Amino acid sequence: MAKLVINEAKKQGKIEPEVYGQFSEHLGRGIYEGLFVTEDSGIANVNGMRTDVVEALKELEVPVLRWPGGCFADEYHWKDGIGPKETRKRMVNTNWGGVVEDNSFGTHEFMELCRQLGCKTYVNGNLGSGTVQEMAEWIEYMTFDGISPMADLRKKNGHDAPWKVDYFGVGNENWGCGGNMNPEHYANEYRRYQTFVKNLDPDQEPIQKVCCGANVADYYWTRDVLKTCFSHVEKKAHGHMDHLSLHYYVHPKGWEIKGSATDFDEETWYQTLYKALYIEELIERHGTIMDHFDPEKKIGMAIDEWGTWYTCEPGTDPGFLYQQNTVRDALVAGITMNIFNKHCDRVKMACIAQTVNVLQAMLLTEGEKMIKTPTYHVFHMYRHHQGANLLGSELTGVEDIGMGEWLVPKVTESVSEKDGIITMTLNNLSASEQEEVDVHFIGDRDHKVLEARIVTHEDMHTYNTFDEPDKVTEQAFNGYTLQGSRMKLVLPVCSVVEIRVK
Ligand code: AHR
Repeated sequence: MAKLVINEAKKQGKIEPEVYGQFSEHLGRGIYEGLFVTEDSGIANVNGMRTDVVEALKELEVPVLRWPGGCFADEYHWKDGIGPKETRKRMVNTNWGGVVEDNSFGTHEFMELCRQLGCKTYVNGNLGSGTVQEMAEWIEYMTFDGISPMADLRKKNGHDAPWKVDYFGVGNENWGCGGNMNPEHYANEYRRYQTFVKNLDPDQEPIQKVCCGANVADYYWTRDVLKTCFSHVEKKAHGHMDHLSLHYYVHPKGWEIKGSATDFDEETWYQTLYKALYIEELIERHGTIMDHFDPEKKIGMAIDEWGTWYTCEPGTDPGFLYQQNTVRDALVAGITMNIFNKHCDRVKMACIAQTVNVLQAMLLTEGEKMIKTPTYHVFHMYRHHQGANLLGSELTGVEDIGMGEWLVPKVTESVSEKDGIITMTLNNLSASEQEEVDVHFIGDRDHKVLEARIVTHEDMHTYNTFDEPDKVTEQAFNGYTLQGSRMKLVLPVCSVVEIRVK
């Protein structure tokens, strides 16, 4: 039996709400159809935003939304996406299926979507193929409240008041689709471009600048970018950036083969979870390099693309990255977000890729139908960690399980506290055995369970379909007993559990 000891007195730092962020790119049916529909689609919408999708996302309390990409960001020219729709330029989306992008979803539409969701805005700029002037003008267009060419243009396009840009990414994956740069070259470009990402509204919180970080385990990138961005005058890299990104996708069978989203064996189940757990090593090793340049941890690690990436669904456009989402994805989400919580001292933002119809999505749509994925339900339970304090918690007596070389701990957890309520999230990674966990709250105070929920299915392949949308949902969890400060849990196979106590 595993033992979980929780120390309520040991508050380890705030879990930033933005760690539960989302990412939506001009890719496949992510924005068009997924979030944004035309007037003649017959699908209920407010200003083009799908009502069903917005309502579902609001329940997740989405803290931040990243847009317009991804690789798309470094070939996006924002002026093509403003003004009357009929005169907006049409372009080829070279990264994603070579389809025609009609630019009907642009800056105004993104800001409207964020308004409806009530979330922060994370706009990713174009460093790869755009100019410094173009980037500076976009900032002016979005945020300036006075008289200027770009503020006047915004007003002419129907929006008098400036918007709030909370985060601005200066390029995306500039080691690859964003320009194939080496780290020194990118870092010097970053230093130049970010200079013109100015805070034009003195009454607003400054825009937080996100520097393009590494792909997976490219520790040289992290080191060389931070070294080049380091100011020897100020003795810190912080003056140039507020966040450094990291991208990590789980491809069960590797980048070339990837593997099916729904048709996998037990070994692949463990292989996938093993690869999901690897993100902890990435956070720790990139974090160690960041500590060297930024010992006070003023630069946040922004894991602004993460999640599973499988072979896309048979019969769909390979450039659209549409995939199903099973109980396995629920586990990947649960264990990943427990890791983010545990590293809240450095991980300040994370955006799962991507919100609707792309990769590890929250929601899938087909015409006017919409379903929630198992990942959605995990995000819904974990929302209680947003803005909470990480509590000291230690899990002992956990055996390693798995197949072949893919050994994983049977259980993972994280625990936080907000407004006197403790939220515990636990995962049983075993495909075949339940697990008992003996929970002890240090201090021996009596506790009361407020809520206990679970996302699970004994068959790890299970997923929701448009005909059967509720095969994997959030359910009440009854597998616990509580006496004073001792709790006993029985976690079913393949499960993500949330328990809230007072
Ligand atoms: O999320 C899909 C793509 O993955 C993004 O466009 C890119 O940044 C990454 O390689």
